[in-house]
Amino acid sequence: MRVLSGIQPSGRLHIGNYFGAMQQHLQLQSEHEGFYFIADYHALTSNPDPLELENRTIDVALDYLALGLDTERTVFWRQSDVPEVLELAWLLSCVTPMGLLQRCVSFKDKVAQGLSPTHGLFAYPVLQASDILSFNADIVPVGADQKQHIEVTRDITARFNTTYGETFVLPEGRILDSVAVVPGLDGRKMSKSYDNTIEIFESEKTCKKKIMRMVTDSTPVEDPKDPTRCNVFALLKLFADAAELAQWETRYRRGGMGYGESKKRLAELVLDYFEPYRQKRADLAENLDYVRDCLRDGADRARTVAAETLNRARGAVGLVASPAKGVSSDPVPR
Ligand code: ADP
Ligand code: TRP
Repeated sequence: MRVLSGIQPSGRLHIGNYFGAMQQHLQLQSEHEGFYFIADYHALTSNPDPLELENRTIDVALDYLALGLDTERTVFWRQSDVPEVLELAWLLSCVTPMGLLQRCVSFKDKVAQGLSPTHGLFAYPVLQASDILSFNADIVPVGADQKQHIEVTRDITARFNTTYGETFVLPEGRILDSVAVVPGLDGRKMSKSYDNTIEIFESEKTCKKKIMRMVTDSTPVEDPKDPTRCNVFALLKLFADAAELAQWETRYRRGGMGYGESKKRLAELVLDYFEPYRQKRADLAENLDYVRDCLRDGADRARTVAAETLNRARGAVGLVASPAKGVSSDPVPR
């Protein structure tokens, strides 16, 4: 089975990205053929500072490599190093109904958050479909907020295959229900765009400071508290083992515990969890040529697959390349 996913370089990766997406990506690479990329074409839809885009891309690469992405087994690349996906996106656009894109909540959400309603932002799901189809992916592990985009991809695939004959593999999304949405410091979904994140490789000082500032209700210390309504508890669930979690649950319900206590423990657990990977990240950050070589090598491998798929799709829709000067005009092989 081929597993594929992408992550936008839109800021430092956070624990929502980790539990919602990256953890699955890393686990799946041992059982399946992994194809993972840094979606910098997609990141352009939020008009990042051009100088920042490269830094953020490298940051994402460092995070993945430090956390255990194995570039021997897994193909790992920067999306814009494989421009074939853009041409395929156009072929897909031509079978994509406007209504399908108009129903996408992510476009509306992003415009509501202040992004300009550009054609790129509107057509974002078509490029995502092209990412998936270009590499013949069977499984696409993503966070819950990407569910609709995977459905759009499946819809586009079915339309293309019906119009032009079986050309693409029909992919399936994989969403981990247990951690569908990781809450942020303010209780909303943790997201770079809400400025409510705890970064995976946050410094110790900032990590503690952020967690101590997490929004909680104003139940007095002595009163019982409802753990199911507390975002500190929701994060403890991700980091504490079952025995410790059961103890926290009892302490919440019994009363006599202040949120400061559970926050302090949460900060320790978060720092301990990612501690083993910090040194590796620091070493990689000192060796950026190696990191860039990994991405280049991944792009070469990815490009071979994407070029083959694009050729098949061009053939299916009837695009015939003009022969070079002096070369006979035999039809393009299908
Ligand atoms: P952000 O909202 O911070 O910009 P992205 O949209 O770049 O994050 O998400 C990258 C991946 O991480 C996606 O697969 C997404 O579903 C997952 N993800 C992001 N935030 C969360 C969260 N709070 N909980 C669970 N998964 C998340
Ligand atoms: N839209 C995804 C996100 O914001 C990133 C992405 C781009 C992606 N192309 C993809 C995810 C293809 C899975 C497959 O998280």
